[in-house]
Amino acid sequence: PIPNPPGPLVDDGIKLVDDSDHPFIPPGPNDLRGPCPGLNTLANHGYIPRSGVATPDQLVTAVMEGYNLGNDYARFLVYQAHLVDGNPLTNLISIGRKTWRTGPDPLPPAIVGGLSQHGTFEGDTSLTRLDDYFGNSAAFNEQHFSEFAAFSIVFGANKTYDINAAAELRHRRLQDSIQTNPELSFVAPRILSAFSETVFPTIFFVDGRLNNGQLDIQAARSFFHTNQFPHHFHRQPAPVSFPTIEPLVEQIFKKHPFVPGMNKGVNNYIEMPETPPLSDFCGIYEDIVMRVMTAQYPDPSGPLLEALNINLEFLFSAVEGHNCIQVFPYGQ
Ligand code: HEM
Ligand code: MG
Repeated sequence: PIPNPPGPLVDDGIKLVDDSDHPFIPPGPNDLRGPCPGLNTLANHGYIPRSGVATPDQLVTAVMEGYNLGNDYARFLVYQAHLVDGNPLTNLISIGRKTWRTGPDPLPPAIVGGLSQHGTFEGDTSLTRLDDYFGNSAAFNEQHFSEFAAFSIVFGANKTYDINAAAELRHRRLQDSIQTNPELSFVAPRILSAFSETVFPTIFFVDGRLNNGQLDIQAARSFFHTNQFPHHFHRQPAPVSFPTIEPLVEQIFKKHPFVPGMNKGVNNYIEMPETPPLSDFCGIYEDIVMRVMTAQYPDPSGPLLEALNINLEFLFSAVEGHNCIQVFPYGQ
């Protein structure tokens, strides 16, 4: 039986999360880490199994507990990820590369690639990772991080990564990929994750006692590179979800608007105005289900169909606040 998504935290206030029950231990040789500094850090502190393989409900609990990510946003990210990168039959997902530890796979074209799989959830123009075309898109990249630091110094208040630095760096990463990556893809759902992950560090990586939207470079390196909470780190003082994150995403989009698209060779960005834009949240939800997920599961049956439908229901429950119309790829 697949567990229901966890509900909101009961104690949802500020809290020391770098506590003695959750010591930092770097990953061992068999532990998996991937492209998400938020989840890698939680795994290194034991909020997620240190192996890097977890159930979706464990991930929902961990991101609420460790950062005070709001319950519905947590469910949105986790069930999206599980449907495109996890194993619906065993209810396990890797936060890193593909692994036998998620159990026997459904038949191809299912991938069950883990969060490091390129093109399902992971995508181009990441802040501190290379585009897949250039190498390992899950690994921390020092060149990209020095630009992160430089943009924080030039554009951020008090030389921090704040919303202004975030807006400029998001623009810079897209322009850089347009100019250098012949296989750049920047369409839904990646456009949404790219923008939300640009905003996240200004919120969740800032100590909840300070909570001023200004991430200093030392703390940034701790999360992005070492995947460690800064000492005595406290999470956000209240759950943070769509109502906080979406206006910030809109704010940085307005500074540097773009049309979704892809490169056909370097410096040849073909706009795709027929695909869902960043502002169309329900369109992006539909795209995840009807295009990205069904590409891997065109015609499921039996227990696989049952598991997919359950997880689709969990994903829809996370977007209900947006009044989206539910889509049913396998019938109602
Ligand atoms: C990036 C998954 C929660 C912070 C990513 C990426 C994935 C991912 C697949 C790679 C995308 C890419 O850059 O190509 C998830 C899932 C979550 C989650 C499934 C479930 C709750 C969080 C949380 C935070 C966070 C709670 C912050 C505390 C980030 C940041 C990046 C990122 C900052 C961008 C890294 C970069 O561009 O260099 N996440 N994430 N994530 N995630 Fe998460
Ligand atoms: Mg990436």
